[in-house]
Amino acid sequence: MARTKLIAGNWKMNGSLAANEALLGALRAGLEGQQGACTVAVAVPAPYLAQVQSLVAGSAIQLAAQDVSQHDGGAYTGEASATMLREFGTRYVLVGHSERRQYHGESDAAVAAKAQKALAAGITPIVCVGETLAEREAGQTMDVVRRQLAAVVHTNGHCISEIVVAYEPVWAIGTGRTATPQQAQEVHAVLRAQLAAATGQADRVPLLYGGSMNAANAAELLAQADIDGGLVGGASLKAQDFLQIIAAARATQA
Ligand code: 13P
Repeated sequence: MARTKLIAGNWKMNGSLAANEALLGALRAGLEGQQGACTVAVAVPAPYLAQVQSLVAGSAIQLAAQDVSQHDGGAYTGEASATMLREFGTRYVLVGHSERRQYHGESDAAVAAKAQKALAAGITPIVCVGETLAEREAGQTMDVVRRQLAAVVHTNGHCISEIVVAYEPVWAIGTGRTATPQQAQEVHAVLRAQLAAATGQADRVPLLYGGSMNAANAAELLAQADIDGGLVGGASLKAQDFLQIIAAARATQA
């Protein structure tokens, strides 16, 4: 079964009212000229959700958030609930990005709870998994990603076919050091098998690759059997680069 490719930009803590308007204007114009299927999303900093909601209205660009609380509401200073994100038309939310795991101590259990809150609010969680360089060198890659995904599978049971998974090796994020298509495919195949064991519908779950994906390397990564799209950091801030990645994704479906 051919899965429609998904290209999601993760802006991280970048942007401004003016820069967002310019970037989305260029993306909207560029997308109009493209043919073929591909879902496109941008994960923006929370203060810009309302602005970007109106900037993408009437376009094919979907709105995504970068994090969600594992709580429903109340005394959790600084957090935003899934229900709040939904009010702004948020379609996807990243959960368990390695920067959240690393700098904010997010555990596998917290990530699983966040995915659960997103699903309950009708938002698709993009669950990020990935090993550090030390873990890869110690031969622990598959154990780490399986453990991270298992927590989400365990908590979310039958809803698991509604998620998106992003494999982002920590050593490839923002380093310019991309996983080879073979390295990425090897991990994606393991994740697919794990999902297949958990749900009869593993074929439905898009598996994205993230980590220094750019206009030059996207086509080869996206041609792999189990790579259904990309989670793009730095290159998603440059309209032409992001458009080229989207075009590469469309070309694999042609
Ligand atoms: P880069 O594309 O900048 O390496 O970032 C990847 C990432 O972390 C996307 O979530």
